[in-house]
Amino acid sequence: MLKNDLLLRAARGEAVERAPIWLMRQAGRVLTEYKATRARAKNFVEFVKSPDLACEVTIQPVDILGVDAAIIFSDILVIPEAMGLPYEMIEAKGPWFPSTIKHVGDLEKLHVADPAQLQYVTDAIRMTKKELNGRVPLIGFAGAPFTILSYMVEGSGSKTFSKAKQFLYAEPAAAHKLLDMITESTIAYLHAQVDAGADLVQVFDSWAGVLGENQFTHFSLPYLTRIAQALSPRVPVTLFAKDAHYAVAPLSKTGCSVIGLDWTMSPSNCRTAAPNVTLQGNADPCLLYAPDATIVSSTHEMLKAFGKHRYICNLGHGLYPDLEREKVKLFVDTVKAYHWEA
Ligand code: CP3
Repeated sequence: MLKNDLLLRAARGEAVERAPIWLMRQAGRVLTEYKATRARAKNFVEFVKSPDLACEVTIQPVDILGVDAAIIFSDILVIPEAMGLPYEMIEAKGPWFPSTIKHVGDLEKLHVADPAQLQYVTDAIRMTKKELNGRVPLIGFAGAPFTILSYMVEGSGSKTFSKAKQFLYAEPAAAHKLLDMITESTIAYLHAQVDAGADLVQVFDSWAGVLGENQFTHFSLPYLTRIAQALSPRVPVTLFAKDAHYAVAPLSKTGCSVIGLDWTMSPSNCRTAAPNVTLQGNADPCLLYAPDATIVSSTHEMLKAFGKHRYICNLGHGLYPDLEREKVKLFVDTVKAYHWEA
């Protein structure tokens, strides 16, 4: 039994006293406690594979920031690894894959992931559920098939994701085959997270915005739809397609419960485009560099614009590592103290 189930009620469209709030990348470098825990692991990949350390940093933001949900500490790149493509995390740079996918023949290196290979994540979820003891819900997550394909093809982050897009244009059949394998892997993985105790799952399509409407419709939406339909109604599913304005209306028809919005999207346009789902977002993470009064007034404006019904407060993307934790806390406290007009 959950003592605070605001997130789940908001996701399901039930009545809430106030908007729930959590933050993407809430477990991370804005917290000195996170850095201390991370220093106990050999490197990022080993950190992710240590359920006791993952459990510790998952709970830190609940204790320190007072958010209404925990999100399991892991990374979207555990799926490529479990499919046969290991990754490294280069300090101050980001992910790096020693081996990448360039042609259809490279798919032979890969297999559909067996959730048993990701037991370190499900162990971390079980441990975290026990430690949380019902204080707040626990969010599970995975990367969207297109975003995962991007890393597998590019081998790292990119400004344009031109190699990933080239793969879609030049080898569409291979791209669909890879997207299908990632989708199968992800559905089994998310079900395993729910078996272990995840109360809601979020799928991050962080690079959907590079696609344009046509490629999104062919190479992302069908796979997101499969995932949403496989997981709901078992748990509420949140789909977050960053920078993909054209995605909001079609995502609302996939069977998901929640759509994540980045800060370039307008609350009222999105309500019109997606009237039957919960909206999540969408403060600019850079707002948290502003003076306190600006943080408070902009947050109030955002809360008013979304309204109390079917809304989960968050940023429009993850916290930046150089944000001050006091500013982050002010944002959370402002949301929790907001009084909705009757
Ligand atoms: O949100 C949370 O607090 C839960 C944990 C979480 C992490 N990564 C931990 C992490 C989640 C949900 C992710 C998802 C993720 N990982 C995404 C999708 C969300 C998004 O940001 O768009 C993506 C694209 C990745 C891939 C990834 N992992 C990148 C590009 C980087 C390096 C850049 C960066 O933001 O630091 C990571 C590393 C990473 N994943 C860190 C954390 C806390 C920082 C690593 C460190 O401790 O040095």
